[in-house]
Amino acid sequence: MDPGQLIETNLPPIPAPIWFVQLFKVLGFTLHAVPMNLWYAGILIALVLYVRGGEHGQTFGRRLMTQMPIILAYGINLGIVPLLFVQVAYAQPFYSATILMAWHWLMIIALLIPAYYGVYLYSFGLRSDGPGLTAFRRAAGWVAAVLLVVIGWLFVNGMSLMVNPHAWPELWKRADFYGATLGTGSNIADATLWPRWLLMLGLAIGTTAVWLLFDAAWFASAESDQYRSWSLTLSWKLYTASMVWFAVAGTLYVITGWQSFKQMFGFPTVLLTLLTALAPGLPWLLLFRQVRAGQFPSRGVAALIALAQLGVLGVNAISRQVLQNIELKPHFDVLARQTATQYGPLAMFLIAFLLGAGVMTWMIWQIVRPGQPAAES
Ligand code: HEM
Repeated sequence: MDPGQLIETNLPPIPAPIWFVQLFKVLGFTLHAVPMNLWYAGILIALVLYVRGGEHGQTFGRRLMTQMPIILAYGINLGIVPLLFVQVAYAQPFYSATILMAWHWLMIIALLIPAYYGVYLYSFGLRSDGPGLTAFRRAAGWVAAVLLVVIGWLFVNGMSLMVNPHAWPELWKRADFYGATLGTGSNIADATLWPRWLLMLGLAIGTTAVWLLFDAAWFASAESDQYRSWSLTLSWKLYTASMVWFAVAGTLYVITGWQSFKQMFGFPTVLLTLLTALAPGLPWLLLFRQVRAGQFPSRGVAALIALAQLGVLGVNAISRQVLQNIELKPHFDVLARQTATQYGPLAMFLIAFLLGAGVMTWMIWQIVRPGQPAAES
């Protein structure tokens, strides 16, 4: 069976220019990735450090976990932006894939709710009980960490199944109920699944490393100088580990997905591929410079390092987008779709986006503005 038969081809035109859709999909995913990385790898790192990291490890564990409810709220809301644009321009392959794996896909919500509660229980426990956190609250934190890693895996599963139409007919036949699918499929047989999952985890460790330093520079004025110099050393070590992880997972991803990746190595796309591979070098170099000078960075330098990591995630998001288009092209050429721009909804989206971004920025400003009491958590 031709997998293309499972994609609706009689499509209405898309309601916004395709460059606009791709721009906001990539921008939205980059913004989602920052907080998502902090709960994806950050919670596990914080929990381990809280138990095994000595005095400063405990401080970082406490800090990140008390910030986590806000980080989760930001990240989940920011996930809506790319979701919106996936649905606008990629609805046909997106829904085909997520219907075939419907139970797994819906499970994201079922897992996210207890994960959210777990984070709250741990975080509020730290505020009320301090270091004497009850065993129940500790367990809730660990359960949340594991659930969030599983949710990440389900996302990778869904997004990789979406670009793997060859797997669909078989998944459909296996769970066929009088022509309808039972939705029990999964992309587990796809060799790119695990490297892709590992790649995002590697990036997430890097983002957590940068947050450790950024938080120490911007929000931790109540902590000691020793904590700050500890955070610089650990940030650099953690970032180095994440870079090695990223390189190994990235290489495996390229090898397992070579059929599509070979186009990523043609000119001029190869320049983007190289940039994506080398991008983590910049935050690493900036961190290394500080470590070598034995000097804790100023707020400005810490912001520069954070910006460099945002660049790493941004370039990665652009590459993912280019690759997604390449993978789908044989069955679904998104760039060739007709457009009939609907200016009213487009303007409403832009207004809502700017208002939302403004409110979020204002909320962050309330925390960091001069004259505020030091953000203890
Ligand atoms: C419930 C609110 C969430 C929404 C609406 C959301 C939305 C999205 C969307 C639309 C993408 C794909 C972006 C694209 O390809 O352009 C994505 C990717 C991803 N999300 Fe989220 N997300 C949410 C929560 C989470 C949670 C709780 C996790 C847990 C770790 C997570 C982890 C991931 C990962 C790992 C990817 C990358 C998957 C891949 O393509 O390899 N997200 N998210």
